[in-house]
Amino acid sequence: MLDLDKIQALAEEISAATASTPEEVEALRIKYLSKKGSVSALFDDFKNVPNEQKREIGKKLNELKTIAQTKINDLKESFSAADTGATGIDLSREATSSVWGGSHPLSIVRNDIIEIFGRLGFTVSEGPEIEDDWHVFTALNFPPEHPARDMQDTFFINNNPDILLRTHTSSVQVRTMERQQPPIRSLFPGRVFRNEAISARAHCIFHQIEGLYVAENVSFADLKQTLLYFAKELFGPETQIRLRPSYFPFTEPSAEMDVSCSLCGGKGCSVCKGTGWLEILGCGMVDPAVLESNGIDSKKYSGFAFGMGVERIAMLRYQVKDIRLFFENDVRFLKQFQSVL
Ligand code: DAH
Repeated sequence: MLDLDKIQALAEEISAATASTPEEVEALRIKYLSKKGSVSALFDDFKNVPNEQKREIGKKLNELKTIAQTKINDLKESFSAADTGATGIDLSREATSSVWGGSHPLSIVRNDIIEIFGRLGFTVSEGPEIEDDWHVFTALNFPPEHPARDMQDTFFINNNPDILLRTHTSSVQVRTMERQQPPIRSLFPGRVFRNEAISARAHCIFHQIEGLYVAENVSFADLKQTLLYFAKELFGPETQIRLRPSYFPFTEPSAEMDVSCSLCGGKGCSVCKGTGWLEILGCGMVDPAVLESNGIDSKKYSGFAFGMGVERIAMLRYQVKDIRLFFENDVRFLKQFQSVL
């Protein structure tokens, strides 16, 4: 009986075939592709294949024929190429095809987020990873004794309390406001650093995307509608959001946003720990004190800001259980994202 195994076995045999003379190539052609050849024999058997398998087996048979024809042509060509005169180089020969890489899952997620906010008019800019206290903490209204400044969280460079690796991309809000007057509508993607023990859930290096919108009459309703649009675009049209009151020194009021769990549709599952909700970002109205420290008139302008972790969203989207996988660059992990360039 003709079945997929048989076709597969013959395909493997043909792929492995070699020839050292043009005569041997011709012998292979006769063996596989002539009227009495083994590929043709399988085609003859095709009429006995049950109807419900015809589609699948027919497709594989055609693929097999192409494999055989390509093989014979390639072998033939290798001999005519050898016959190219003095240089021995066949300039007409096709280049060997190169292996395509894929985007890193974090790049895919970052680009999707940038694209969604791009549709709302958000531009993108970046700031330095090595920062000073002013841009990471002071200008963002962090009180002097705030625990985030602590040695435990922040990597200081050469023990200098004023040179540090940024702990969040909110520092780029400051860099933007100090050089640009409103309207500002920008996204700031980048790497951030925290002095934390590495585990399946936390890493000392990760990525954030920060958003800042400052203009006249910007309200909390604008923030909510912008984030609702974003959540539906990223996680699907059924997605709901919920804003829980929270605290950040640079926003007032502040909130954390949850999205309804896209895996269970909000019913409760192991990913959302039975709650139906997943926390994905922090946000709020820019504190007037922050606008003022950066030379923006808080009586004329208001704004909102938000910040999210790219790894967290990628873990939810692709069901990755261990954050370290994003940094190890094991090709067996990365290859799984090749089809989603
Ligand atoms: N910077 C905060 C963090 O790293 C996240 C954040 C919260 C950013 C609220 C914001 C915001 O812009 O408004 O945890």
